[in-house]
Amino acid sequence: MTEALAFRRVRAIDPAHALDAEVDVVVERGRITRLGPRAADDLAQRERVRVVERPGAWLLPGFVDLHAHLREPGAEGKEDVASGLRAAAAGGFVDVCCMPNTRPVNDSRVVTETLVAKARAIGGVRLHPIGAITVGQNGERLTEMADLKAAGAVAVSDDGRCVTNARVMRSALEYASTFDLPVIQHAEDHALTEGAQMHEGAVSTRLGLRGWPRVAEDVIVARDVLLAEYVGARYHVAHASTAGSARLVREAKARGIPVTAEVTPHHLLLTHEALVGYDTACKVNPPLREAGDVEALRRALADGTIDCVATDHAPHGILDKEVELAEAAPGMVGLELCFPLLLGLVREGVLPLSRLVDALTAAPARVVGLEPPRLREGARADLVLVDPNARWVVDPARLHTKSRNTPFARRTVEGRVAMTVCEGNVVHTDAEAW
Ligand code: DOR
Repeated sequence: MTEALAFRRVRAIDPAHALDAEVDVVVERGRITRLGPRAADDLAQRERVRVVERPGAWLLPGFVDLHAHLREPGAEGKEDVASGLRAAAAGGFVDVCCMPNTRPVNDSRVVTETLVAKARAIGGVRLHPIGAITVGQNGERLTEMADLKAAGAVAVSDDGRCVTNARVMRSALEYASTFDLPVIQHAEDHALTEGAQMHEGAVSTRLGLRGWPRVAEDVIVARDVLLAEYVGARYHVAHASTAGSARLVREAKARGIPVTAEVTPHHLLLTHEALVGYDTACKVNPPLREAGDVEALRRALADGTIDCVATDHAPHGILDKEVELAEAAPGMVGLELCFPLLLGLVREGVLPLSRLVDALTAAPARVVGLEPPRLREGARADLVLVDPNARWVVDPARLHTKSRNTPFARRTVEGRVAMTVCEGNVVHTDAEAW
């Protein structure tokens, strides 16, 4: 049995305490026991020490995803807890929050408990269910949030659907705040998006497709910010996609309202132009927007207005995707491509590396009250080793998720997760890089 794991001469980066240095990092009994220049020197020769030496590699705190669809219960052909957590580990994630739009909906203690128990039995990375706001995600009657919390839920959301009724949303904010659960809103005024296939703009007009206007998101975020202020409750915007959302969150924060937000890699990288060929892999909800929105989202993420990156990992099978755009289910897989894709933005100078790491670690952990992964002596050993220079071509068939729906197939990316460590256990090693 391996007693210790020793990373030698890695570039260790943890913006939470301004760490960016070449050091050795030693992991024993699930914790980081030593961190410093040559800290592993006397260990390297010992038996039962796994030494990891990879010139140029980076060691980061493990990533936290606030937004994944793991499809269990009900659609295990697309994903299940085991495959989802496996994909998460391959993407460098150590904490995964899973959305409740399953069948049945996770609106009860029993579903939450089952998910938690499954994940524990599997081992690997940690799973944190997000319970529904309303029973059946019907937008009417509130769930028993005390039960959900007791069973392990870290937040509530009706993601996939919006809580459009202001009275229900007000009550949800009041009720959830008594249990210190953040309310995560899928901001979409359904009355404005009925039958929509993509973003409402020049491309939807050209393609003759019904559009999902930005304002359908903005009106909900604006209203919710006012409700959160009135109630004094925590409010989190899921998958922000518009320049308006970014502006509203910026203004809310400036006024001291407890509002946070997340953005997905695809909303930072793609525009509605990707739909020109009717590619169903590019159909997501909210839809891919315009260059101006992408620009605003990038700026908001860079300056911390948007707190974190979340994948919105949404696996779908061919029955849902190899159909006409109008029939296709929205969503794309995200866990395994998130970091390599976003590293491109760091290279382009759009995003400082330290902000990207914060947006994937401490910032999301803070939103749902998880212990933030940290790179320092004494911390729980939740780590991700990255080879920043590895160039590879995305091949959906080689992903760990059960689904293949990604528009990034065949794209060359630079940067790869080489190893993920959760509580001192190696939960992923990249066969190709080692
Ligand atoms: O693209 C999306 N897919 N957006 C959502 O809100 C739901 C998700 C899903 O469950 O597939």
